[in-house]
Amino acid sequence: MTTAEIQEEIRRLKKEKDFCILGHAYQSHDILEIADFTGDSYGLALSAREAKQKNIIMCGVRFMGEVVKTLSPDRHVYLPNPMAGCPMAEQLTREDVIRLKERYPEHAVCAYINTTAELKTACDVIVTSSSAVDILRNYPADKILFIPDCNLGRWVEKQLPEKEFVFYSGGCPTHMRVKKENVLESKKLHPDAELLVHPECLEEVSELADYVGSTTGIMAYAKKSDKKEFIIGTEQAIVEHLQFECPDKKFYLLSDCLVCHNMKLTTLMDVYNTLLGNGGEELIMSDELISGSYKPIERMLNS
Ligand code: 13P
Ligand code: SF4
Repeated sequence: MTTAEIQEEIRRLKKEKDFCILGHAYQSHDILEIADFTGDSYGLALSAREAKQKNIIMCGVRFMGEVVKTLSPDRHVYLPNPMAGCPMAEQLTREDVIRLKERYPEHAVCAYINTTAELKTACDVIVTSSSAVDILRNYPADKILFIPDCNLGRWVEKQLPEKEFVFYSGGCPTHMRVKKENVLESKKLHPDAELLVHPECLEEVSELADYVGSTTGIMAYAKKSDKKEFIIGTEQAIVEHLQFECPDKKFYLLSDCLVCHNMKLTTLMDVYNTLLGNGGEELIMSDELISGSYKPIERMLNS
């Protein structure tokens, strides 16, 4: 079967079997073409609440599937490739958070959405890269323990000088591979290009950027800008999508190390097999886990 034929079959099967497909912006172009909703982590969390179908396939990584299941507990939620996990989500356990809370009893615990559902049950509020600043600005606590991504945390801290932050030294292994030297080299090669980066990048990279924002934020900025060339400091797929959407502009990947292997694990065939009932994993979560992780996610969505 060709890619187009598999996509056609997926479109037919999802209608016939009442499935909604969500695709994170880091997924490949052939997957985003068959998705009902695409976007960043925050946008997908909102879409999960809106979806009317009784089955949902989450093309992304495991924590995203858990968020969808938490927000839509009555639906069947599937991860097309069970191996797709986010290494950052495994950097801290619930027990680690409880120990940190004992050390910082006066701090509200704010966790990045890139964490396990189990860890979320020990947190006060969840944020995504696109919602963190607004949510914490309005959050009724002056002292924040921000976990696990200290790079995102420091970027938020700069914009909220009125709050006091404590960080855990976690972060995204993909984005953290990029160094200041990569930026200087890339700027030399493309002197007219604007640099757009994700806040998961190191501070030494973010502080040289023209724009720092979520995957959706980066795409919206590049589409709106009058500039013709952009250096993209986030996962490689964003360069691919932008090049499709803006053929008259040029996009360069900041460094060829910006590939998240976990985000690349899910293929069109995995989605097809999930629809056929021959693959994927249905995410099963206990009522206790769902209600415990729902509370801090709800605070994010209602802020
Ligand atoms: P956003 O989708 O919030 O930009 O986050 C990127 C990411 O790393 C998802 O794993
Ligand atoms: Fe996790 Fe980073 Fe991959 Fe996102 S890009 S899924 S944060 S490892």
